[in-house]
Amino acid sequence: MTSLTASEITPLAAPPLPKGRPNLVLAGFMGTGKSTVGRLAAHELGLPFLDLDDAIVRQSGRSVAQIFADDGEASFRALERAALLDAAQLSGTVVATGGGAPLDVNAFAPLAASGAVIVLAAAPEELARRLAGGRGRPLLGEGDIRARIATLLESRASAYDGVGRSIDTTGRSAADVASEVVLRYREAAPDQTLALEVALRDTTTRVIVGHGALHDAAALREALPGTLRAAIVADSAVAETHAAAVAVALRAAGIEPVGPITLPAGEAAKGVDVLAWLWDRLRAEAIDPSAAIVAVGGGAALDVAGFAAATYARGLPLVNVPTTVLAMADAAVGGKVAIDHAGAKNLVGTFYPARLVIADPATCDTLPPEVLREGLAEVVKSLVLAAPTALELAAEAPLEWAVEQSLRVKAAFVSADPQDGGVRRALNLGHTFAHAVESASDHTISHGDAVAMGLVAAARLGAMLGTCPPSLAGQIVTVLQRIGLPTAAPPLDEKRLLDAMSSDKKRAGGAVRFVVPAPGGAALVAGVDPRTAIGLLRE
Ligand SMILES: NC(=O)c1ccc[n+]([C@@H]2O[C@H](COP(=O)([O-])OP(=O)(O)OC[C@H]3O[C@@H](n4cnc5c(N)ncnc54)[C@H](O)[C@@H]3O)[C@@H](O)[C@H]2O)c1
Repeated sequence: MTSLTASEITPLAAPPLPKGRPNLVLAGFMGTGKSTVGRLAAHELGLPFLDLDDAIVRQSGRSVAQIFADDGEASFRALERAALLDAAQLSGTVVATGGGAPLDVNAFAPLAASGAVIVLAAAPEELARRLAGGRGRPLLGEGDIRARIATLLESRASAYDGVGRSIDTTGRSAADVASEVVLRYREAAPDQTLALEVALRDTTTRVIVGHGALHDAAALREALPGTLRAAIVADSAVAETHAAAVAVALRAAGIEPVGPITLPAGEAAKGVDVLAWLWDRLRAEAIDPSAAIVAVGGGAALDVAGFAAATYARGLPLVNVPTTVLAMADAAVGGKVAIDHAGAKNLVGTFYPARLVIADPATCDTLPPEVLREGLAEVVKSLVLAAPTALELAAEAPLEWAVEQSLRVKAAFVSADPQDGGVRRALNLGHTFAHAVESASDHTISHGDAVAMGLVAAARLGAMLGTCPPSLAGQIVTVLQRIGLPTAAPPLDEKRLLDAMSSDKKRAGGAVRFVVPAPGGAALVAGVDPRTAIGLLRE
């Protein structure tokens, strides 16, 4: 790996994430069945499963035994510590921890605080039977396994006791134990809908995430107290489906739905002509300051409807109902609304946070597969920022989980930096590259595809600058490939790429800056040769 220098590296560490649905954390001695039981319980609960030992193996490209042999136990424990801290950032995830993890009290505590911990136990004789002949357990060594197990168990007993209630697995099948684990988790986490509050300037946005959220009349009533009428402004692709469901929910909330006022599909809605037409329609429907706007659609519909809500009658209460992965994971929360003008994307806009965001992943069932995939690029970005150990889950977890993680990451950054001048810039990870690719390809490469390419290039740049491990770019490539997203740019005109980067630079007022992955989040770097950076898009 060639190294590179930057004139300035500013850390943009992730602020604490808002609480999500509880994690289910499995701890216990090797051989107690954490991985098998965890996988079964995750399946039953419809949650993703993360085995931290497996994740460490994937990240380091070596088996646990090999890490012990090459670098010693302390080195493995350092990797484990980082993995535990990453897992603590997740929500609604079944996490199997390594046998020694609870011994690292400080690293285990945040994970324990993120959910319910269940310790799996078994009698030493049974463990000896289960582990006999097994390889890759460096702590068991050679010789009398049973005696070694008994000694280790004794030395760890108080650490296991300290982290959670235990289940004795002796003589029981994994399926049987998993049923009990599921029961215990459901007791600890009865409500599977997630509600977050995002404070932005003088508005607090309530975000509800979950299947069925679209029908939540109570949330609408609460967000729009005293409102009697609401104009539904919807992307034409969802006007007859999801917007119609929103109308039913509004009626159930005692609010008269007006419309839907149907926008052209996608980006075509984001022009001043459509905005002016929308103002006219609102007037024709007698929308006055006592009414609200409910925006239904992807990021484009939300942007133009939000702009109308910000400006019509000097501002109407806004509810966002995102119906694409990108809009749920990114556009719906954060308060930015904009239209395109004079050939420039998002040239005219303002900050206007919604009062309520209803993210119902079921609305994505009607999405064309490529639009769904593109949104997942933002999910990958969120995981790189908050929990790179869990990257692979972006390709396999339920959409609800993916949206939940991205929303928590977005909420944390925007509440910490509502004006977008500080730490929130971490959310631009991969985007300097992506904007250049979109522009140099005359927008024939979509935003999501360009972000995917940009994430790989940003990780390569970070590795060259020493801000992130060299293995991260490879992990990102693997997960993007599994999702079906591109990982390298096709040949594009270098001058056009450089021009696009320098017009971004003018907007940012200064040098070309890149966001790269860094410990605990990202870092903003300046003074990197843009030509070298562009080369990283092609490797
Ligand atoms: N305001 C912000 O903070 C912010 C953040 C990120 C992106 N954006 C903006 O978001 C836009 C991109 O958003 P997007 O990726 O959601 O694209 P989009 O809004 O253009 O929607 C993509 C396509 O999917 C269709 N569609 C939407 N929902 C559907 C559904 N449930 N079923 C079937 N078809 C559906 C649309 O008609 C469109 O053709 C860009 O304009 C971008 O600038 C804004």
